[in-house]
Amino acid sequence: MIVLGIESSCDETGVAIYDDKKGIIADVLHSQVKLHAQYGGVVPELASRDHVRRTVPLVREALKIADIEDNKIDAVAYTAGPGLIGALLVGASMARSLAFAWECPAVAVHHMEGHLLAPMLEDPAPEFPFIALLVSGGHTQLIEVSGIGQYKLLGESLDDAAGEAFDKTAKILGLGYPGGPALAKLALKGKPNVHKFPRPMTNRPGLDFSFSGLKTFAANTIRSSDGSEQAHADIAHAFQEAVSETLAIKCRRAIRETGLKTLVIAGGVSANMRIRERLEKLLVQEGGSVFYPRPEFCTDNGAMIAYAGYLRFKTGETTGLAIKARPRWPLTELKAGG
Ligand code: KG4
Ligand code: ZN
Repeated sequence: MIVLGIESSCDETGVAIYDDKKGIIADVLHSQVKLHAQYGGVVPELASRDHVRRTVPLVREALKIADIEDNKIDAVAYTAGPGLIGALLVGASMARSLAFAWECPAVAVHHMEGHLLAPMLEDPAPEFPFIALLVSGGHTQLIEVSGIGQYKLLGESLDDAAGEAFDKTAKILGLGYPGGPALAKLALKGKPNVHKFPRPMTNRPGLDFSFSGLKTFAANTIRSSDGSEQAHADIAHAFQEAVSETLAIKCRRAIRETGLKTLVIAGGVSANMRIRERLEKLLVQEGGSVFYPRPEFCTDNGAMIAYAGYLRFKTGETTGLAIKARPRWPLTELKAGG
């Protein structure tokens, strides 16, 4: 079975092909970073227009890399949400049209389910049940995963997502967009224990997060610093430590409350090496193990959509002729396949 997947929910156009006998046989991506950089963030209309330009050439390139004819595609999967409505509509209508032309079904995929299942493309792959920590630009969620489509929300961010906090703090530090990777790079030069940032919502019970206070704390610390590069690096370091430690505290609670000892981390922020390191240490202490995707499958990509689409399609799920696009779509609305 071969599934082509298209991702277009935000600022990356991704196309990939998953073959159930060989795994991912093509994976191509166009990042819009340069397009949005001068505006300091994603401009939705520009994002949509760029997806229009990039999708078909990327589909052609993916077919060429996979060295297959389009009549070998059994289904076309696409990101149907959550995301920017214009961007989603481009990928969804292109995917639906390709499926129509190729006379095969289309499968609408939930973007966060794509992130959540992406670690299963690695070897070894995590086995159900597990706890998933989804950390991206729009979401911070702890989810108890019993199987595909069996998701129980344990906790989530009440304000900014972890990636959003990275991006906003990076902006205050003058690092531009996208901020997460730039802040992580600067943090490497920072000295430890110069500042102690709060670990928000860790001194009360529960598994929810709140990260918006950290950027305010960062802004105030910057204002009272000497503004040197070293001062900025020390602040970036302290911010990253606070996020890592807060995530680790909540993951430890989730592990102890559920009794599950497998932790999966996914979404753009799971590319952060310090966060990975901190959570690996936690799982060693708890006698469990942690799984995450290779770095290019942490941030948005077509492979996770092709793969999640394949898993859904395998159970007989298809989306009919409708072009499905939902800017807001809670993950917990999903049902088990079949
Ligand atoms: O999953 P993703 O590519 O898009 C969404 O679905 O939101 O996540 C993007 C987010 C951005 O906020 C970006 O700054 C953050 O992931 N990010 C990182 C790193 N790489 C990407 N944050 C911290 N450290 C990184 N290395
Ligand atoms: Zn994403």
